[in-house]
Amino acid sequence: MFPQDFLWGVATSAFQLEGSPYADWSSWDELLCKKPEITNHYNCYKDDLRLLNELGVNSYRFSIEWSRIQPRENKWDDSAIAHYQDIINILLENGIIPIATLHHFTHPLWFIRKYPWHEQSSIERFKDYVCKIIDSIKGIKYFITFNEPYVLLLGGYLEGCMPPGIKDFKYFLRALENILICHSNCYEIIHNKINDAMVSISHNMAAFAPWWQYNPLDKLLCMMAKRFYNHSIIDAFDTGVLSIEFPLKQAVKIEVPIKGRLDFFGLNYYTRLHMRFNPFKKMFVELRHRDIDGYGLTDLGWEIHPKGLERVIKLASRLRVPIIITENGIATRSDQKKLAYMKRHIEVVEKCLSKGIDIRGYFYWSLIDNYEWLQGLDSRFGLYRVDFKTFERTPTTAAKYYSFLINKARESSRENKKPLF
Ligand code: BGC
Repeated sequence: MFPQDFLWGVATSAFQLEGSPYADWSSWDELLCKKPEITNHYNCYKDDLRLLNELGVNSYRFSIEWSRIQPRENKWDDSAIAHYQDIINILLENGIIPIATLHHFTHPLWFIRKYPWHEQSSIERFKDYVCKIIDSIKGIKYFITFNEPYVLLLGGYLEGCMPPGIKDFKYFLRALENILICHSNCYEIIHNKINDAMVSISHNMAAFAPWWQYNPLDKLLCMMAKRFYNHSIIDAFDTGVLSIEFPLKQAVKIEVPIKGRLDFFGLNYYTRLHMRFNPFKKMFVELRHRDIDGYGLTDLGWEIHPKGLERVIKLASRLRVPIIITENGIATRSDQKKLAYMKRHIEVVEKCLSKGIDIRGYFYWSLIDNYEWLQGLDSRFGLYRVDFKTFERTPTTAAKYYSFLINKARESSRENKKPLF
């Protein structure tokens, strides 16, 4: 079912592979003092990009590390710009389509200290960065402005487990509004300079279930979680109004200038969450994972639930723009589990295609093992294993399976030339 020009890819983020001495996250997690180079990708990116050829992917999603490009407020680093340009050049020379994420969770330290997202001044600072990138880096058509703004802000502004470590609902809302304004500005800046650009965000979507299906409070929480986490941003792109409803908080509606400002929808999907009413937890919400389907849990304890991908794809298709699965993957040391996870989720993508949903690509997270935000170096998401002492990369069986599958899909789409869309 896969169209001939389907984007088969892998996704990474700069900081998770290469760190950055100028990023907020470097001083946030002590582990990074001992391992600032993480996988040493900044130095051996050429070898890592060769792995893309080995896999046979035709596309690669990576991110540009803002803190390397602008280490100080008044300093742009030309060598960092040249570094990311080199990555793009290598991809293009090898017939691999680059998809660049402009913001994947990390910030220059000066930015988060002086212009955090809840301040209006953040908007102009981000604009400066985006203009610099668009003026100086060439060869990109696909852009993702922000990776998972909701995850960034739930972590950074509600839970406080990510920089800037704030726990305040009012600031959370202001930061979200400012980031959506930034998305809108980026959309305009990019389209003004690049004719055929395709611009999106990557939104993390999850499946939700009540912990106890006969408990009305669990069901209510589940409904609210779905509405907030999955629906609200889709509705905002559709209508220009962001509606947020949280337990114990007053519902809010904010006008955001993002209506229709999306050329495709970047969907990240990993797991299902079970919602439980618990009066002793913050906002009465307890989140749990359970192995209901019998596929097991990942090394992070997340439920493997491929059916959930189908549900969120259907929901995203309401936007009537092409969908790209910009992330899907599993943290596990078991090659068999990794392979089965990938197979089952790709089958879901195929099923959705066969129902006529316009899906243009699938990106496995991630190319190589990397730094996981809250868990460090033990979460093995990579198609290639990384030995963090020697920096050696070794293919998993899932890597071999992925290239086999890509080849097979290409062969059958060549035989069956009928365009899908
Ligand atoms: C993020 C990645 C992260 C992955 C696994 C996604 O939410 O975009 O940066 O590593 O999930 O947790």
